[in-house]
Amino acid sequence: MTDPLSSWHRLAGGCVLLDGFHALKHAVRFGAEVPVAVTTDRRAALVLAEELAPDVRDRLDALLTEVPEETYRSLVSRPHPTAVAALAVRPDRQDNLRALELPRSAPVVVLDQPRNLGNTGAVVRLAAGFGATGVVTTGTLDPWHPTVVRGGAGLHFATVVERLTVEELPRGPLFALDPEGEDIRGVKLPDDAVLAFGSERSGLSAQLRSRTDHLLALPMRPKVSSYNLATSVAMALYHWSAGGGASVP
Ligand SMILES: C[S@@+](CC[C@H](N)C(=O)[O-])C[C@H]1O[C@@H](n2cnc3c(N)ncnc32)[C@H](O)[C@@H]1O
Repeated sequence: MTDPLSSWHRLAGGCVLLDGFHALKHAVRFGAEVPVAVTTDRRAALVLAEELAPDVRDRLDALLTEVPEETYRSLVSRPHPTAVAALAVRPDRQDNLRALELPRSAPVVVLDQPRNLGNTGAVVRLAAGFGATGVVTTGTLDPWHPTVVRGGAGLHFATVVERLTVEELPRGPLFALDPEGEDIRGVKLPDDAVLAFGSERSGLSAQLRSRTDHLLALPMRPKVSSYNLATSVAMALYHWSAGGGASVP
């Protein structure tokens, strides 16, 4: 059997870090290819699996190799309380781009130049939970950054996650969220909508606004400037699902 440390070092550059039990559990559950997974305590990890993820317990049993604490710490920048870490193969970009295209049965969420890694992870988690087609970011933030994957709890494998330019955004009616827009409560969001949200600091870019078909506002009382980005995505996806959009396959 190959020693996990040499596999890790050979694969780390081209793979996605799954940091912690929950990230590994979700990735395995949603079909990620996981070539190496380590823990400092296999028994404890399998007890967690029995309690929280019996559906993937046997696969985790086959995947996890116990390593000394020191080895584990040398592989991750910030040790996770569950002391589990793994590497997963990133989904193919061309497959992802095809999945984002029309026809679609659920919206694509666009984050226009997001800045905050935690917000972006939370949005991936929301998109996965609601069964959105995917999350596309514009700008410089890498939506597969380890901190985003950690924030997304490994759910990058349950939806499509890609970075594109505004020109490359998937086709479909573009609804951009902005406090100056029309009240979202009077609008039914179609299943093939592209739902765009602005950056935490400066809102929607001029480039994205110029492509927008409908500008929509979330209900908000006067004198409040705006909501947090991830909570705005949550409200918009909830509004879509409450209009009949499917949240389960
Ligand atoms: C933190 S806000 C951006 C605030 C920014 N200072 C601005 O000028 O818009 C991040 C994004 O969340 C969405 N958002 C926040 N509050 C909203 C509201 N009341 N209605 C619609 N969208 C909202 C928008 O897409 C916004 O660009």
